[in-house]
Amino acid sequence: MGIFNFLVSKTIMHIPAPIVSIFAKSYIAGPTLYDAVKVTHDLNKKGMMATIDVLGEFISTKEEAIFYKNECIKILDVIAKEGLDANLSLKPTQMGLNLDKEFAFENIKEIVAHAKELNNFVRIDMEDTPCTDDTLEFFRRLREEFPGHVGTVLQAYLRRTPKDIENLSDGLLNFRLCKGIYNEPRKLAYKDPYIVNQNYIYSLEKLFQKKAYVGIATHDEKLVFEALRLIEKYGLKREEYEFQMLLGVDEELRNIIVSGGHRLRVYVPFGKDWLPYSRRRLKENPNIARHALKQFLGM
Ligand code: FDA
Repeated sequence: MGIFNFLVSKTIMHIPAPIVSIFAKSYIAGPTLYDAVKVTHDLNKKGMMATIDVLGEFISTKEEAIFYKNECIKILDVIAKEGLDANLSLKPTQMGLNLDKEFAFENIKEIVAHAKELNNFVRIDMEDTPCTDDTLEFFRRLREEFPGHVGTVLQAYLRRTPKDIENLSDGLLNFRLCKGIYNEPRKLAYKDPYIVNQNYIYSLEKLFQKKAYVGIATHDEKLVFEALRLIEKYGLKREEYEFQMLLGVDEELRNIIVSGGHRLRVYVPFGKDWLPYSRRRLKENPNIARHALKQFLGM
């Protein structure tokens, strides 16, 4: 990364919200569920699936958690009513994990139970490392009661991930595998992008060996290439895995994957609480952030 990009990625957290909003637009469906439905309809027409996410995380009151739980239930109802090819993604801290673990669990359980009634699926996103153990535990407990209707996420930057996969008990396993986006200490997470990629491929192969259904979440074509090699090596059928990408990122690669005959799901966030999500997206792509800063400085 060049020095300018490095500086930009370090300062993105301080760029004012109105500037971030200009560049956040492509990453977010819009402020309302209606916007997410519209984007999902368009994706479905192009042969892509979606996972809808209402933006909001690290909330500070139980009332907020209940609000987001109700929003998630509404999303599942609207997906069913509109006949969309989509499921739901949610964040444990959005459900109150930082306030009260069992309260958060019960909120997520109610949503997963509703997803089961509608024959749909809930993905529990993975947040920063203070949440990892609890999130994996939530997945284990919910999978017992609602097999096939819940999954979670593993992060390839974490040193622990291959061990977490080895420790998985048998049964329906459903994971999204991504690199990981939070700022973690070196003690817990690899910092070298080469090693993160190696750990991604190593973890993906372990998941395939465990017969897990994997959402291969990446825009890194090197990883897409390696994933295709492993899919072939393990003779996986089309329905036994999917690729996943974020809304607004590398649509060309998205189309290449779909025209290759693979299933692909797009992460479709919507809502008013767009700032933390957008800042993370801009931070991981300093080229866009550089553009944002130049606009801000009138350069
Ligand atoms: P990498 O960051 O190396 O990017 C590869 C290429 O993709 C870049 O060169 C660039 O061209 C392009 N690119 C990547 N990000 C971009 C962006 N924001 N804007 C424009 N171009 C971009 N993380 C997490 O910790 N917990 C989670 O639950 C999830 N969930 C999740 C769902 C889905 C569907 C995806 C795709 C990703 C996540 N992530 C996540 C985020 C993930 O951990 C990771 O930060 C990003 O996917 C970027 O990593 P890549 O594998 O794309 O590689």
